[in-house]
Amino acid sequence: MADHLRKYESLFTLTPQRMRMIVEAFTECLELGLSKPNQIVPMIPTWVFGWPTGKETGDYLALDLGGTNLRVCLVTLQGEGKFEITQTKYRLSEEQKQDDGQKLFDFCAECLRTFIESNTGDGPGQLRPGQLLPLGFTFSYPCTQERIDHGELIRWTKGFGAPNTEGRDVAGMFKKSLEKYQLPVELTALINDTTGTLIASHYVNPRTKIAVIFGTGCNAAYMERVKDIPKITHLGIASDAEMAINCEWGAFDSFEHEHLPRTKYDAVVDDTSNKPGEQAFEKLISGRYLGEIFRLVICELIDEGVLFLGQNTYKIEKPYCFDTAFLSLMESDPTDELLMIIGIFTHFFALETTLAERQFFRALAKLVGRRAARLSSCGIAAIVNKMGLLEEGCSVGADGSLYNKYPSFAERVHEGLVDIFGDRGRNVITHHAEDGSGVGSAIIAAMTKARREAGLYPNV
Ligand code: BGC
Repeated sequence: MADHLRKYESLFTLTPQRMRMIVEAFTECLELGLSKPNQIVPMIPTWVFGWPTGKETGDYLALDLGGTNLRVCLVTLQGEGKFEITQTKYRLSEEQKQDDGQKLFDFCAECLRTFIESNTGDGPGQLRPGQLLPLGFTFSYPCTQERIDHGELIRWTKGFGAPNTEGRDVAGMFKKSLEKYQLPVELTALINDTTGTLIASHYVNPRTKIAVIFGTGCNAAYMERVKDIPKITHLGIASDAEMAINCEWGAFDSFEHEHLPRTKYDAVVDDTSNKPGEQAFEKLISGRYLGEIFRLVICELIDEGVLFLGQNTYKIEKPYCFDTAFLSLMESDPTDELLMIIGIFTHFFALETTLAERQFFRALAKLVGRRAARLSSCGIAAIVNKMGLLEEGCSVGADGSLYNKYPSFAERVHEGLVDIFGDRGRNVITHHAEDGSGVGSAIIAAMTKARREAGLYPNV
């Protein structure tokens, strides 16, 4: 197995020099996205103006349509960076992700109705009967926004494919569903999870300058000076204002594939996805794809007769059957015999493994996981470069299953930053973010309400 491992090491390892080249190309793409509309990395102005004051208060509803679940929250902001939250999660089926878009939003409205019904009362943390609440809708897919309560879906990502939605205003579609169910809510803001995370993390830790999500998908947001967003100069917004930018960096290197180190396994993941060519950066990093990349290597070795000779391998041959969570379990197996890996292969795939094979699997998981983390550092480094944050340093609020559950992911991101920037890379530190799609969305709804009341809506 050692020879095989060497081959994969050379395929999946990123040298510091290569990383610096990626950062350079990435930084240029960020600039391009800010200067012109419809670029590969779209750098979307979010209409979230500046940082929260920390004094935002009140009750807000938040609805979060992420990659895996649907979540409804009631958030009470208490000011001074404090809050309380009551929430319920609803599972989204694979069929719902592919069913008609309006039906998907109807389902969101139904879940919201159930949540409101079961949380109305006169106790603490409950909604008062008849109370009309502002709602922040966290919709974590790339949307071009003309105002904060508008968003035209550029494309579905993360395996979603609901027809009749791309190119349409999803906020408008959701409002229609809210009307259908006559819910006592007012859609105040449409928010990306990264923007919510940026604002929520800054609310509790003002050193936060960048937010990143490493979950089913992968993306970042940061606060930009309006004068440095040339594509919106014609709108006449005060040039000293600041606005959060949803980078949608998962799209970096899409279609052209010029900058990223793609292996043939990555090409297969891409070709067999529902969106070939798109989300090139995300497909090398996010939780939706890492298990599949690992599985494709295993399948190659099965075809070459190196692994599982004489065993029935049909179970592991099914696309996407190898969960990314298995990679993190394999990497953190504490036993000499690698009992966790025995368990995964026998239980889920009915396959017997030797110790040498298990050591190989663990090493391979590490290669795939480490590459993802190091590429993530390249994205963070590009924003740090662009904003000139390296000397003073900054905090990066990070969230998502990969960041939270994959052992050493954060450590490897930090290691990557040092490889890119040298010692100064230590000035940039990621930390577990506040709940962006719940708390962040509530704070943004509060900030928007205040702007409206001050006559500043939609965009001056
Ligand atoms: C979406 C982003 C989102 C990210 C993390 C990506 O697939 O395009 O909008 O922020 O996933 O959820």
